[in-house]
Amino acid sequence: MHIKADHEIAAAGWAGARPRHVGIIMDGNGRWAAARGLPRFEGHRRGVEAVRRSVKAAIELGVEFLTIYSFSSENWRRPAEEVAFLMGLLKRFIRNDLAELHRVGVRVRILGERAGLPPDISSLLDEAEALTRGNGALTLVVAFNYGSRQEIATAARRLALRAARGEIDPEDINDAAIETELATTGMPDPDLIIRTSGEQRLSNFLLWQAAYAEFVFLPVLWPDFDRAAFEQALREYGGRDRRYGGLGPASAKTGS
Ligand code: IPE
Ligand code: IPE
Ligand code: MG
Repeated sequence: MHIKADHEIAAAGWAGARPRHVGIIMDGNGRWAAARGLPRFEGHRRGVEAVRRSVKAAIELGVEFLTIYSFSSENWRRPAEEVAFLMGLLKRFIRNDLAELHRVGVRVRILGERAGLPPDISSLLDEAEALTRGNGALTLVVAFNYGSRQEIATAARRLALRAARGEIDPEDINDAAIETELATTGMPDPDLIIRTSGEQRLSNFLLWQAAYAEFVFLPVLWPDFDRAAFEQALREYGGRDRRYGGLGPASAKTGS
């Protein structure tokens, strides 16, 4: 795989800041299929191609963390056949792509509840994490059976247990303490969250972590997401003014 050098990225018209961590809510597979008179699963199948393109683009564009929302805690509400297809798709993706991901230096990390997943999938996910643990080209975070409210509730429960055991003082429970109990602990917060398909909502994705994320909503349906769409989102991000409640970089410089 050809990794683009900084000057090549500059040549592609790069000016603004680049995000370290990009989260993607991969939406629109069903509509992509319906528009073609195809069954929904065909949209999911084609969506895997878009995942491959995104991983390649993320590496080339110097993104450090790419988090892809693949199956939400609420997606169990879908018909059993669709749920089974999505489980099988993840299994096939890991089986087919793990060696190549490892070869190009991708570290795989999984977010989400393992309980409730078929044991063979859970062990494949463990295998993917273990094999790629030492890689550094990109961390690909797969949010599967993930729900942010559940994640926060789990963190609260763990802290409550530790307080009940006398290990911590309840007075010491602050945002940093909660952060250490989240599934994302140790990762930078997402700088940019992209959602495809035109929907403009988080659907229980990284609620805590997205406190200061920038959002880019694209009309493109996920199976059509490509390098150009990724670059468009990064360009839009590059033009944003992130202030974190302050008065922005200009005022920080002058101290006014
Ligand atoms: C995203 O596509 C994939 C998952 C949520 C698993 P959808 O399946 O939600 O596609 P639409 O939103 O119905 O078009
Ligand atoms: C969000 O998409 C979940 C994933 C992309 C995995 P959904 O299609 O499930 O979200 P809603 O139901 O439209 O909010
Ligand atoms: Mg959807």
